[in-house]
Amino acid sequence: MDDQIYDGESESSPAEKLRAKQEKKNLRKAQKKAAKNSSSSAPVMSPAAKQAELQEKVRILVNQLAIREAMQPSSTGNSQRVKDMSSHKFWSTQPVPKHGETIEEEGPIEENTPHDQIRKEPYTLPKEFEWSTLELNDESELNELYTLLTNNYVEDDDAMFRFDYSGEFLKWALQPPGYKKTWHVGVRVSATKRLVAFVSGIPADIRIYNSRQHLVEINFLCVHKKLRSKRLAPVLIKEITRRSHLEGIFQAVYTAGVVLPRPISKARYFHRSLNPKKLIDTKFSSLPSNTPMTRHVKKYKLPSETSTPGIRPMLEKDVPAVRVLLNKYMSKFNFVAVFKTDEDVKHWILTKENVIWSYVVENPDTKKVTDFFSFYYLPSSVIGNPNHKTVNAVYLFYYAVQESDEKARKSRLQFLLKDALILAKLKDVDVFNCLDILENKMFIDELKFGPGDGYLNYYMYNWRCREMGSEDVGVVML
Ligand SMILES: CC(C)(COP(=O)(O)OP(=O)(O)OC[C@H]1O[C@@H](n2cnc3c(N)ncnc32)[C@H](O)[C@@H]1OP(=O)(O)O)[C@@H](O)C(=O)NCCC(=O)NCCS
Repeated sequence: MDDQIYDGESESSPAEKLRAKQEKKNLRKAQKKAAKNSSSSAPVMSPAAKQAELQEKVRILVNQLAIREAMQPSSTGNSQRVKDMSSHKFWSTQPVPKHGETIEEEGPIEENTPHDQIRKEPYTLPKEFEWSTLELNDESELNELYTLLTNNYVEDDDAMFRFDYSGEFLKWALQPPGYKKTWHVGVRVSATKRLVAFVSGIPADIRIYNSRQHLVEINFLCVHKKLRSKRLAPVLIKEITRRSHLEGIFQAVYTAGVVLPRPISKARYFHRSLNPKKLIDTKFSSLPSNTPMTRHVKKYKLPSETSTPGIRPMLEKDVPAVRVLLNKYMSKFNFVAVFKTDEDVKHWILTKENVIWSYVVENPDTKKVTDFFSFYYLPSSVIGNPNHKTVNAVYLFYYAVQESDEKARKSRLQFLLKDALILAKLKDVDVFNCLDILENKMFIDELKFGPGDGYLNYYMYNWRCREMGSEDVGVVML
């Protein structure tokens, strides 16, 4: 890396100047450290990198041999450690609340930068790399992104499973109405043009407490495994921030498994076995002690047909009704996605085979849509298992019911979500996942979801507000 990465000279706003100065200082420290540990930052394997790769392989093997209790962890993993603010060399320079800071007033942390003061050129990358805005309508570029993510994106703490977003899924996630191509930010090796890092933004509307905002939702931050810990992520984050500023957007929402300064909320993953035997074979879950497999399998058996009268796949004609139902249901939470137009619902909720499935309940007498639910398909690669390549997983997405009485709502949700499990099972799904957000706690236990060892922290950039419990969150990120 060279000194040009955080190019302070071309910064314009005072806040940016200050940040650039701090970043430069941090960078010099990181460079000294990196020079000690390794002689190259290029993807060509140095002896140190080879050793690191070997260590990684050993670690994976050890993990695979270990008996894990994926579904009943005894404590939170290392990723949930809260680091001291001073050790966040990058995040301590950003407009985010600090750990431990008391929040009295809600609002932006720094003022919007006037358009003529926003930096016009991209941040400088280490000299081996170049920026590349991806064209996802081009099959080969979409495939490059798929390959980067499928090999390098999020893994569980034990490196046994890795998200395997399909190309079609990525188009759905990254090309909603009003999407901006310039927010599909790639980094390539200049010499080979190989895609080695990515970050994305999409336009989104949210309400946080009483504030409605049009902002950017950041996702799919990924740096190739061989380029980790070289401070590339901060450059990507700064660049997507700059590109958002250029569009007049100064707030962002994002989630991460790791704890950064500073979460608005923390949610936990829950898993409902649909194919218990395969989940045990892949070590996704473990057989409880003294439980024969037959009894375990029986515990998770489901009827072969749904039971809600009037349940059917959602159709395009249901879009307006679903939008009204959903926005109304969401009004009870403190941090929610707002579906402003029917186009939004059509894009985000309507079924796209092998990406998202949605069902409505139509009252057989009135023909009115009374409820709906949706779940998206996101398999995980099973790392290094000779028998299984993939765990087929779906994740609960948005849903809505109408009952105003809490007891009635709870029983309705249990009824509906049981049908969701049945419908997923009919699609050969192995596990149905959800977070403990929305009103999911109303059915998690009753429908035999078990707690996982994964957590998801919710964040906002350049927005100060009180923290909230996961049951106040109504934003489902992909
Ligand atoms: C997340 C990832 C891009 C970080 O890259 P890296 O090479 O490990 O880290 P770098 O040296 O480039 O940068 C480190 C900085 O990024 C921050 N960071 C790490 N993960 C982050 C995340 N998910 N979101 C935002 N910042 C993150 C670190 O906290 C650190 O900043 P700090 O010193 O202020 O604490 C990389 O580990 C990766 O691709 N992981 C797999 C995919 C993934 O988990 N993506 C995030 C999904 S939420």
